[in-house]
Amino acid sequence: MKRALILSLSTFVAGVALPTAAVSGDDKPLYTVQDGVNVDENTYNGFKTWRAAACDRCHGPNQEGMVGPSLIESLKVLTREEFDKVLTDGRMAKGMPAWNTNQKVMDNLDDLYAYLKGRSDGAITKAKVRKIK
Ligand code: HEC
Repeated sequence: MKRALILSLSTFVAGVALPTAAVSGDDKPLYTVQDGVNVDENTYNGFKTWRAAACDRCHGPNQEGMVGPSLIESLKVLTREEFDKVLTDGRMAKGMPAWNTNQKVMDNLDDLYAYLKGRSDGAITKAKVRKIK
C-alpha cells in the first residue's frame, strides 16, 4: 500500500509561496498545487473527470457530502485500494454506483484520486482548479 507522504512546503522564500507537493511511494508527486487552485496537469485531469462523471450530484460541489459522504473526510481514512474498489465496484445497495463501465472514470482513477486527495489534505483550497501554466 502506498501511503501518501505529505510534504507541506509552506515555507515562504522572499515572499513567494513554494508549491505544495504530496509525494507517493515513487518520486513523482501525487499532486502539485500553487496558491491553492493551480494544479499540475494530472490533477487537473482528475478535476475534469470529477466534473464529467458528475460525482458532485451526490458528494456535493465542494466534495462536502450530500446523499453521499463528504469525500474531504473519506479520503483522510480511505486507502488507495479501498478508493479503487469503491469506484470500480460501487456500493450499489448504499447508493454508490459502480463505475467499471465508465471508461473515462476507469482510465483516470489515479488523477481522480490525486485531485480528491489534494482537496482532502486541504492543499487544494477550492473545488474548481486551473492548470499551472
Ligand atoms: C448517485 C449518487 C452518487 C454518485 C453519482 C457518486 N457517488 Fe460516491 N457514494 C455515494 C454514496 C451514497 C456513498 C456511500 C456508500 C456507503 O454508505 O458505503 C458513496 C461512497 C463513495 C466513496 C467511499 C466513501 C467512504 O467513506 O467509504 C467514494 C470514494 C466515492 N463515493 C467517490 C465517488 C466519485 C469519485 C464519484 C464520481 C465518479 C462518485 N462517488 C459518484 C453516492 C454517489
